[in-house]
Amino acid sequence: MTQLFWGMHPTEVGTTTGRFMAKKSSTLPLNLKGPKPRMPLYRWLYEELRSEILAGRLHPGARLPATRDLAEQYRISRPTIVTAFEQLRSEGYVEGKVGSGTYVSETLPDELLQAPRAKSTAGTRRRGIPLSAYARRLRPLPRAEARPARAFRASQPALDAFPTDLWAQVAARRLRRVSTRLLAGGEALGYRPLREAVAEYLNTSRGVKCTADQVLIISGVQQALDRTAHLLLDPGDPVWIEEPGYPGAAVVFRAVGAKICPVPVDSEGLNLDAGRRRWPQQRPRLVYVTPAHQFPLGVTMSLRRRLSLLEWARRSRTIIFEDDYDSEYRYSGRPIPALQGLDRAAVVIFAGSFTDVLFPALRLAYLVVPADMVDIFAAAESVSTHHPPLIDQAILCDFIREGHFARHVRRMRELYAERLSVLVESAREQLGGLLEIPAVEAGLRTVGWLQGGILAERAAEAAAKYDVEVVPLSRYAYGRARRDGIVLGFAAVDAQELRRGVEQLARALEDCRRMLRQGRIKGSKMAKTQWHLAAACSFDICVGKVFDQRNHC
Ligand SMILES: Cc1ncc(COP(=O)(O)O)c(C=O)c1O
Repeated sequence: MTQLFWGMHPTEVGTTTGRFMAKKSSTLPLNLKGPKPRMPLYRWLYEELRSEILAGRLHPGARLPATRDLAEQYRISRPTIVTAFEQLRSEGYVEGKVGSGTYVSETLPDELLQAPRAKSTAGTRRRGIPLSAYARRLRPLPRAEARPARAFRASQPALDAFPTDLWAQVAARRLRRVSTRLLAGGEALGYRPLREAVAEYLNTSRGVKCTADQVLIISGVQQALDRTAHLLLDPGDPVWIEEPGYPGAAVVFRAVGAKICPVPVDSEGLNLDAGRRRWPQQRPRLVYVTPAHQFPLGVTMSLRRRLSLLEWARRSRTIIFEDDYDSEYRYSGRPIPALQGLDRAAVVIFAGSFTDVLFPALRLAYLVVPADMVDIFAAAESVSTHHPPLIDQAILCDFIREGHFARHVRRMRELYAERLSVLVESAREQLGGLLEIPAVEAGLRTVGWLQGGILAERAAEAAAKYDVEVVPLSRYAYGRARRDGIVLGFAAVDAQELRRGVEQLARALEDCRRMLRQGRIKGSKMAKTQWHLAAACSFDICVGKVFDQRNHC
């Protein structure tokens, strides 16, 4: 163990007048464990410093020692240390330039530093208070990743490109002229001018046919799903969901006691005929679909399929929940109007979100409901949150009305198209024979099909060792998955990080392939049954045991 006092020259530990006084120095001694055998030195230093930051022993603003001093102390070369610092910097743990001082970032996400505290309450045993049937079925949905974004974070937009200053100006202006009427609160359906702006946007850009009276402002598509499930479903009601599909929908439907009926997705989206064959007995009360950009496969539902789905829903009196999440970003192919826009029988509930387009912390989204359901949705809102924070709604409304929203979407579409092409190009160069990325038409993420029998779970484990995030497709499947794939996000990080990610992913997948050849791990063909179980288990981990036998049709 080596002790260092951060912010001070290592030779001056214990004195109060360090030659290298930090901007804000930590006086806590830190213990760096010695280098690990077979681990590159830069990697060791990076991991040690990162764990000190994560544990809060190196707090925001603390200065890292000069590379020269570290080099002397550990007898490692300065380029090695610079590489470790650069890695920390690219992931947002530290800031400043090598040469003029490197400091722990002031803007580390709060959760990152509070991780140990959160852990300490997680294991608290519940007292014997009886819970409702709903509470007993409820499972948490893991959300925000605590670590700074890295390749291939799937659940995040490019927060580094968000125009924070502009948002601050719009917010300040709104706050300066805030009226007492606004401060007093508003309608349960949301801030009327925002509902009008959303209706206009949806009619012109998404092919939705609605008036502002049908638009509700809500705290995320997740809440829209929860609200819909509570209003439309009783325990035992069958709900069709896409397989593979968005786990957040299944969690909600399961919690209200609905029977989950997975329906396969093909190149045209949810396969209606397969659904009817698989579940011939019961007419579903609700069908959940992501037609613009299927989650997570990315396919766009064909017009033919949309029309048959609508016709079938009309005849069977089934409500369709159309989740339009992240469909603003289309890079190729013709946009097809929303299902809602083709609906002549008022069977579609349409939801979309500002969280992926602007920033996740905003928690504002919209729901378009058939006219005869507006009152019941408003009643549900009035007895719960009353309405999402009104001032945030007013700021967002100004942001849209002043044209910033449309400009931001345009800018982001260009940026994401660039990032996507970096991913596709680098993958073509380095992942040949390991991973195949299909043509990506829309969205912020893509599936990658694993080659040569590599299992998705193994690939994700190996990638994590190389500091790369990928999600195995099995996490989104409910039964047997047809093919092994992983989900890669390409929006959250810049081109450099994407290239690093591809390089590391290639190493990880090479490792898997080598081990497969040596018979040290199982391949997908060899382990069909295990695969099935692994898929079910990993999905449980991801969404907190969404399914059990009782709730699975
Ligand atoms: C397909 C899909 N629907 C809904 C949501 C939740 O959206 P929101 O953040 O608006 O609650 C997500 C979030 O990742 C998603 O991927």
